[in-house]
Amino acid sequence: MADSILIFDSGVGGLSVLAQVRAQFPETCLNYLMDAEMFPYGNRDDDQLAKRIVDVCVRACDKYSPALLVLACNTASTLALPQLRTALNIPVVGVVPAIRVAGERYSKDSMSTFGLLATPATIRRPYTDKLINDFASHCHVQRFGSKELVTIAEQKIRGEPIDQALQDHLEPWLQQNPTMKTVVLGCTHFPLLRDELEAYWPDIDWIDSGEAVARQALRIFPADPAGKQTIHLIWTGSKRPEGVSQYLSQFGQVVLEASLE
Ligand code: DGL
Repeated sequence: MADSILIFDSGVGGLSVLAQVRAQFPETCLNYLMDAEMFPYGNRDDDQLAKRIVDVCVRACDKYSPALLVLACNTASTLALPQLRTALNIPVVGVVPAIRVAGERYSKDSMSTFGLLATPATIRRPYTDKLINDFASHCHVQRFGSKELVTIAEQKIRGEPIDQALQDHLEPWLQQNPTMKTVVLGCTHFPLLRDELEAYWPDIDWIDSGEAVARQALRIFPADPAGKQTIHLIWTGSKRPEGVSQYLSQFGQVVLEASLE
């Protein structure tokens, strides 16, 4: 399917990016690939993870021949974008935390504080340090590495209750940093919790990179106005992911569900 887009994440997080891609590409066939077998990425060894990401994406591109890959995972993008671009002969658009956008909101005359919520791996990456250094050196960036929030987002997609767990997990950090009015959602799982985040903490502006990534994809790969608007759900391992197909059906007809193996 040379006119399709492949969107990749470890789990359900890339669905937040897929929603934005669908807004820019209303007719295009979208392949959603999740590395369910290796999920979660947020605490894995960097070398092992980089090899795995390249291996899974190369296999999926060989099998489904997309025109573009959206690496809809901050943990993967801050680690393996250069290797992937070398390994693939199609354009790759990555997702990195919206630190530049947050930094631009604050004046260089005073040290304002904003938050960065991401996986423990993204929080400690040199790539993240560089983003902060380049675009937010005039701010205090309060980093919070959370694997629990990734689990909570997965639970939401499976239709499980999450409200109490979400409040218990984030409230102490937000109370410790009362001046923080902007929080960067530096993991693609977290915008899936946007409704709850805005309802519980309405004074905070929760920002993410999904829309910017979809616009970047459109600059590289013009939308096909006569595409099929279908969706393929692909996963690694033997276990069919729960709740994902139902969630995807709001963005088009899910015509294929298959393991990559
Ligand atoms: N969704 C991924 C991200 O944007 C990470 C989730 C995981 O830990 O696997 O970083």
